[in-house]
Amino acid sequence: MANDCFKVKPTKGLSGKTTVPGDKSISHRAVMFGALAKGDTKVRGWLAAGDTEASLATIQALGVEVERHSKNELTIHGGELKPPKGNINLVNAGTGIRLIAGIMCGQPFESVLDGSEQLRRRPMKRIITPLQMMGADITAINDRAPLTIRPAQMHGIKYDMPVASAQVKSAVLLAGLFAKGATAVIQPGPARDHTERMLTAMGVDISSDGTTIVLKPNGALKPMDLTVPGDISSAAFVIVAGLIVPDSDITLTGVNLNSTRTGILEVLKAMGADITVTETGLEAGEPVGEIRVRHSVLKATEVGGKVVVEMIDEFPILMVAALLAEGQTVVRDAQELRVKETDRISVMAGELAKMGAKITETPDGFIIDGPQQLKAATVEGHDDHRVSMSLSVAGLVATGDSTVMDARCASDSFPGFAETMTGLNAHIVVEAVQ
Ligand code: S3P
Repeated sequence: MANDCFKVKPTKGLSGKTTVPGDKSISHRAVMFGALAKGDTKVRGWLAAGDTEASLATIQALGVEVERHSKNELTIHGGELKPPKGNINLVNAGTGIRLIAGIMCGQPFESVLDGSEQLRRRPMKRIITPLQMMGADITAINDRAPLTIRPAQMHGIKYDMPVASAQVKSAVLLAGLFAKGATAVIQPGPARDHTERMLTAMGVDISSDGTTIVLKPNGALKPMDLTVPGDISSAAFVIVAGLIVPDSDITLTGVNLNSTRTGILEVLKAMGADITVTETGLEAGEPVGEIRVRHSVLKATEVGGKVVVEMIDEFPILMVAALLAEGQTVVRDAQELRVKETDRISVMAGELAKMGAKITETPDGFIIDGPQQLKAATVEGHDDHRVSMSLSVAGLVATGDSTVMDARCASDSFPGFAETMTGLNAHIVVEAVQ
C-alpha cells in the first residue's frame, strides 16, 4: 500500500513558540465517557487523529449522536448505547479497544471488537482476565482481538493489577460502572490517572490513595464541558529535537503537566537538559503549562522503577536523546515496550542501527554508550507513530538527508507533526511515495 514518507535534513537553530495537538488519552476518554453520560458533553481541543477517530466512530456505531462543529470541537449527545450493526473496528487503537471492552461487558447486547492486523497482535489477556473475574462473558482466540462480548451480570472485584497499565485499570473501572458492588484496583505503579480525574468530575463515586482506586457505582454520570490540554507525549518529540539540535530555543504552550505523565521531563532534566516548566492553570482538571527548551549538552542516565510508567510512550524518543548523551544510559523495567504498537525496543534499535547507532537490547530495556554520530539513512516506521516521529527527530542530527518511510502513521497521535516541526525551522517534509 502506498504511504507517505518524511524527508529529513540536518538542521541548526530550531526556534519559536508552538502548541501540540490535544492529549490522546483524554480525547479517547472524552468521547467514551461522554457517550455514557446523559446529556450533552462538549469537547474543545479534541485530538482528531487516527486512534481517537476510531474511538469516535465506535461510539457512533453504538448509536450515539455526535455533532462535529469543527475537526477539534464536538458535542456528544450521550446517555444510551444501542447494539452495533456489525463488528466494531478500533483500527490501531490499543487504548480504544481496551477501554470500550470494559464498557461493553456491562451492556445488554452483544458486540464484537476488532481492529487492524497490528491491533490483533496486541495482548488482550490483561483485560480479559479481570473482566472475566467480574463475571464478563468475553471470548477471544488466543487472547487476541477480535473480542466477542455478550451480556452478563457484572459484579465488583478487588483486582491486584500485575502490570502498571492505565488501559487495564480503566477497563476494570469502566466495567465497575455497570457492576453490582464496589470495584477496587490496586496498581503496582502510578499509571496515568485521567480516568479517575474525569469520572470524579462527572460525579462518579471514585476515590484513590494513588495505589488503590475504589469505584462505587452510583448511577451518576454527568456530562462534561472540557478543553483537552496538549499531549506531553507529542510534545516530547519537539522537546528532544530542541535539546539535541544545536542553537535551539523552543517554547511549547498549553501542555498537560499531569505528574503521571511527566516522567520524560524528570529524566531529561537529570540528563542535564535545559528545560523550564511554568504551570499556567488547569484544563479538564489537569495542570497545564509552558515548556521552554534550549539546546543542551546531555549526559547519560539510568532509568528504571516508578518513572517508567510515567513516561512509557517516550522511550523511543529517549533512545534518540541517549545516543547524543555523554556516557552510558541504561533503561530497565521497561518490558512493556515490547507489547506496544510494535516491540519498541527491538524496532527502534534495529532502525537506528541503519543510521549507524549501536544499541544493546536487554529483555526489559536497553543500554546506549554515547555520544554517537548518526549517519543519514532510509529507515522504516513499522506503522508505529512514535517510531516514525522518533526516527525523524534523529534525522535532524544525522550527517546528511534521511528518509523515514511510513509517515502516515504519525497522524495516529500527532497530525501535523511535520508542519509543526517545519514551523520551528526544522526540515521534516512529508512526501508522497509512489
Ligand atoms: C494509555 C495507556 C498506556 C499508553 C497508551 C495510552 C491510556 O498504555 O502507553 O499510549 O490512555 O490509558 P498501557 O496502559 O498499556 O501502559
